[in-house]
Amino acid sequence: MAVWAVLVAAGRGERLGSNRPKAFAKLRDRPLLAESLERLEASDWIDSIVIVAPPGWEEPSILLAEELACTKVVACATGGETRAESVRAGVAEVGDDAAVIVVHDAARPVLPDEVLERVLTALNEGWDGAVPVLPLADTVKRVRDGRIVETLPREELAAAQTPQAFLASALREALGGDLAGATDCASLVETRGRVATVPGDRTLLKVTDLSDLELVASFL
Ligand code: C5P
Repeated sequence: MAVWAVLVAAGRGERLGSNRPKAFAKLRDRPLLAESLERLEASDWIDSIVIVAPPGWEEPSILLAEELACTKVVACATGGETRAESVRAGVAEVGDDAAVIVVHDAARPVLPDEVLERVLTALNEGWDGAVPVLPLADTVKRVRDGRIVETLPREELAAAQTPQAFLASALREALGGDLAGATDCASLVETRGRVATVPGDRTLLKVTDLSDLELVASFL
């Protein structure tokens, strides 16, 4: 059973205020992408890796993989306009031998191997997909035009992280459908199949602005 990882790194990262894409912003002295790539390469749970690079950044991504001696990287796809389109481009490069596809955000550099273990164990238990989640600290409101229209029951809510793991067939089928509005892969699969939650990890924080970069650096 081959497990492929699709590492999506094609976001623009405008909120970082840099002239380079987020995946190439500096985390300590290396591009952000290096950290998650190295961790996927080192993980015994992962057999092959596809990187999804920002348009025009395919070559630097491949060079980085070579510098890090990443023997598991088999392809580098060009990202799309949205995250879901980038995932679709990456999954198109995944081999026919894949039983499971793990999709991970390069913007979450500190990837603990235990979380990979948790999502893959859930698939072995018969789920179609598995997502690491954290409980919410804040109360969540539905807001329209500045007015609160609903308060959602917090005990039913969770914040979804990556890595998200799916049976390859389930993810491929979901990506064949409408991708509009999908901000993660689970939202595409959960309407068709059974997606489990597993405990996430605070270190899997997604880097969106400069202060996140500093916080994530403190986790290294
Ligand atoms: O934009 P957001 O923070 O949701 O991005 C999550 C992940 O998806 C990041 O790793 C980013 O590089 C990736 N992404 C992508 N292609 C896009 C938008 C985001 O690969 N068009």
